[in-house]
Amino acid sequence: MATMIISFFSPYVIFSLIWVMMISSQAYSKDDRKTYIIYMGDHPKGMDPTSLPSLHTSMAQKILGSDFKSEAILHSYKKSFNGFVMKLTKEEAKRMAEMEDVVSVFPNKKNGLHTTRSWDFIGFPHQVKRTNEESEIIVGVLDSGIWPESESFSDKGFGLPPNKWKGSCHNFTCNRKIIGAKSYNIEGSYAKDDIRSARDSNGHGSHVSSTIAGNLVDSASLLGYASGSGRARGGAPSARIAIYKVCWSSNGCDDANVLAAFDDAIHDGVDVISISVGADVAFPFSYFEDAINIGSFHAMKKGILTSNSANNLGPDLSSMTNYSPWLLSVAAATINRKFLTKVQLGNGITFEGVSINTFDLKNKMFPLIYGGDAPNTAGGYNSSISRYCYKDSLNKHLVKGKIVLCESILVPTDIQLLSGAVGMIHGAISPKDLPNNYAVPSTFLSLRNFRLVHSYLASMGNNATATIFKSDEVRDSLAPYVASFSSRGPNPITPNILKPDVVAPGVNILAAWSPISPISDVKGDKRLVHYNIISGTSMACPHATAAAAYVKSFHSNWSPAMIKSALMTTATPLSATLNPEAEFAYGAGLINPIKAANPGLVYDINEVDYVKFLCQEGIETKNLGILTKDHSSCKKVGKTESVYDLNLPSISLYTNVSSFTRIFHRTVMNVGSATSTYKVKVMYPSFLDIQVKPDTLSFECIGQKKSFSVIIEGSMNVNTASASLIWDDGTFQVRSPIVVFNQLPVPPFIFI
Ligand SMILES: *[C@@H]1O[C@H](CO)[C@@H](O)[C@H](O)[C@H]1NC(C)=O
Ligand SMILES: *[C@@H]1O[C@H](CO)[C@@H](O)[C@H](O)[C@H]1NC(C)=O
Ligand SMILES: *[C@@H]1O[C@H](CO)[C@@H](O)[C@H](O)[C@H]1NC(C)=O
Ligand SMILES: *[C@@H]1O[C@H](CO)[C@@H](O)[C@H](O)[C@H]1NC(C)=O
Repeated sequence: MATMIISFFSPYVIFSLIWVMMISSQAYSKDDRKTYIIYMGDHPKGMDPTSLPSLHTSMAQKILGSDFKSEAILHSYKKSFNGFVMKLTKEEAKRMAEMEDVVSVFPNKKNGLHTTRSWDFIGFPHQVKRTNEESEIIVGVLDSGIWPESESFSDKGFGLPPNKWKGSCHNFTCNRKIIGAKSYNIEGSYAKDDIRSARDSNGHGSHVSSTIAGNLVDSASLLGYASGSGRARGGAPSARIAIYKVCWSSNGCDDANVLAAFDDAIHDGVDVISISVGADVAFPFSYFEDAINIGSFHAMKKGILTSNSANNLGPDLSSMTNYSPWLLSVAAATINRKFLTKVQLGNGITFEGVSINTFDLKNKMFPLIYGGDAPNTAGGYNSSISRYCYKDSLNKHLVKGKIVLCESILVPTDIQLLSGAVGMIHGAISPKDLPNNYAVPSTFLSLRNFRLVHSYLASMGNNATATIFKSDEVRDSLAPYVASFSSRGPNPITPNILKPDVVAPGVNILAAWSPISPISDVKGDKRLVHYNIISGTSMACPHATAAAAYVKSFHSNWSPAMIKSALMTTATPLSATLNPEAEFAYGAGLINPIKAANPGLVYDINEVDYVKFLCQEGIETKNLGILTKDHSSCKKVGKTESVYDLNLPSISLYTNVSSFTRIFHRTVMNVGSATSTYKVKVMYPSFLDIQVKPDTLSFECIGQKKSFSVIIEGSMNVNTASASLIWDDGTFQVRSPIVVFNQLPVPPFIFI
């Protein structure tokens, strides 16, 4: 499943996963055909794309025979690549996959959705040097839609849309800021609160869009919080937004919608794509059985970089969901704003927890009850479930007027607790960076403090009381560090490619919101606002997208790989003490947009290089021909190049032998000073030896390329080792992270 990537992780995920597995293990009959995506790569040579639907029809007829009806085909992808969507049984899907010209057939997986002092925090002030080109940059945002009346999206002072723009607005009034707006719901299921247009009923899409390209809005705050700097703003405030609504409250952000949006966005002429969406579970999908990998591959071919959130399934290793090398994968870090919410017990003892609590209980004490002592037995729940305060599991009468003590991270998704309990106190494993808005006063305590509250409750019985205070906004002097929820590498299917690529602010981010969506996401919560503070890799991704747009505004002809390289080689690695997973948590480090606009050297990668990489990855020759413009085969692209030589600005070496030697080849292009001499600096632990040959690179002009080799030798006495390589000419420091590791973690969701 894919969802918007905000930082919710609850027992609900586990419950729904079990449910999905039960459903999918049932035997198939014709009646329970499921929606599949049939992906067919590039347009067939010499064929008019408008005739693709009839090709799709004849393929569907072949598979369904007499069962075929014209409405069987739910959607044809035809603008930027070739494919279609239809309902099939498992057996039919298998036969479809064997047909000529089919690259892959995969079920329509549901994805989920994964805030601005944050810009100042990373050293990117509003008054930074900008070019007029910024207003020519169009950012395609695939999300839950947008709230067009938000001040963040006012088009005051904007000129006409760029000439290259071919997009349009459907059932939506665009302006000169929001120049494109479409919505996709291929399976056609709507919930009551879905708005059937690109208008945002959720808030997530408005939040993401305003972080990328929102206007500077003074006096933005969430009910007075985050008003310290008094402003919300996007990183590229002059850029234009094209919104592609792919996420619905009824069915998440499914692959069929996501792929349709890519098909349009690439054709419409966007410059950068931002997608804060990913699968709900960390199951490793191969590169061509997932809409985001496929869509971003075709975007890359047209010179468009796709920025994608790493997902919120951390802190386990291998918990990312998209890891193709052409994506910019973004992890989430804290900023120096944090929210603390205190609890006071009847005995006067106070504990500090984390949440964003805008409610004021005015110091009044309320009876305290343990969720495990208030099961909704009539509803079939016992204390082993109600201790987690899981949806519907609490007895309304018992919790009414009380503060409930709950054992886990809970996102109340219904009104039950609103109408009953006064507040909630939770115990969290890693509470320091998990602030959320809740529908009732709530706070998250460390497990240790949680247990202390629990023993107070146990000793006082019915006499236990507590109150929850309004949150205090404080400075976090440890920031930045990678948020616990942020998904970690390594890359589960190509361990020799480092993921994530970079980290960006994703905790406590203030940005635009949909004023019809309650800030806690709970129906019945009356707090409706224009700006909200939320957290997630969903919030980190748009920061990286804006940085990419900013770089592109200075270098309109740079390839996606060059922009990604600029962002990576200028990033600042975070503290290894605060981030034990090191590169697997933060990739190259925290983005630095100003430096990225002027990186000195870049590592470029073109389509053919990626194709060589795919050959190495064992993609079938049959498929490769369909994927590429010139319909070449692995044989034709020359000797199968090794994954070690894909020209990324990072090096990842997975090795399971005790002593090893491995050579990596890299090529850099001079984009800094015309004449310059770079010397290499390599940092590595004593059990490794890293040689770079040559160790000096001299350039005589801009655009000149130089190649070098990196030889890594050694024997591992730890599981993971961090190293780095820096090309330094005295002006530019071009840094590549190096990671060597000897264990491949199992993705976290295999536990079922
Ligand atoms: C257009 O959008 C409105 C809400 O903004 C919705 O009620 C209506 O059904 C939509 N029309 C179509 C044709 O989708
Ligand atoms: C509580 O309910 C769960 C799920 O229905 C069940 O597996 C468990 O055995 C029950 N526990 C008790 C103590 O009854
Ligand atoms: C609760 O308070 C009542 C009245 O003050 C007292 O009689 C009772 O013993 C107390 N119960 C506990 C468990 O402390
Ligand atoms: C070591 O890695 C290679 C591929 O890199 C793999 O084929 C082999 O099975 C691995 N051996 C062990 C013991 O994990």
